[in-house]
Amino acid sequence: QQLRSPWPYPAVVAHRGGGAMAPENTLAGFRAGIAYGYRAAECDVKLSADNVCFLLHDDTVDRTCNGQGLAATLEMASLAQLDAGAWKGAAFAGEPLPTFANVAAYCRAQGMLLNVEIKPCPGREDETGRLVAQEAARLWAGAAVPPLLSSFSAEALRAAQHAEQALPRAWLVEEVPANWQAMLQEMDCIALHCDHRSLTRAQAAAIKAAGYQLLCYTVNDPERAREIMAWGVDSVCTDRLDLLAPAC
Ligand code: G3P
Ligand code: MG
Repeated sequence: QQLRSPWPYPAVVAHRGGGAMAPENTLAGFRAGIAYGYRAAECDVKLSADNVCFLLHDDTVDRTCNGQGLAATLEMASLAQLDAGAWKGAAFAGEPLPTFANVAAYCRAQGMLLNVEIKPCPGREDETGRLVAQEAARLWAGAAVPPLLSSFSAEALRAAQHAEQALPRAWLVEEVPANWQAMLQEMDCIALHCDHRSLTRAQAAAIKAAGYQLLCYTVNDPERAREIMAWGVDSVCTDRLDLLAPAC
């Protein structure tokens, strides 16, 4: 397989914005990433009830915000009132849930590359893939390096593929399945992203031999990062910005 573009992402990517250094999926996280010298981050994007793309990992706001409820039932105006920082410490109190547009503007201004994980609320896979891809194409129009779209949901990735074919895509898996190559081909992905705990050296070699890029999450031990990079892993996603140097 011929890649459409060389892998532009650095060897270490900050997980959920700023890893464990700041509240996940907030602009405070991205600011922490910049402070640690990171040039790329991953974040989770889903739809509000009124179809605004915004950053949140879970299906509900309960764990990371001072509110309760399913994200799919809350409109962006309500989501924007929530405090998404206080759970991480008083220093972050008042930090809002950012929209995807907020984050795109910040990343483009800072020269930060972004891996956008499409994280649909259950039942909203198709519309989330489509709307996140369309918004990404609009927000990064003219950019030298487009955001890399990834998802555990094949349905969301296919919707992104049909909506904005030119945006690069990666399939996320917990374990590399037997049909990984057929799936990457069918969804026209450039990369596989997998949990490092399940990856074997032989799988890494096969994925690289087939011409795909390989990213592992969530690698918090510098020794483990070095080990799997020696297997051919291109990039790792980490929470420990304080332990993994951005140029690791
Ligand atoms: O994109 C890699 C990683 O973020 C996947 O796991 O649960 O942190 O979104 P999760
Ligand atoms: Mg994620």
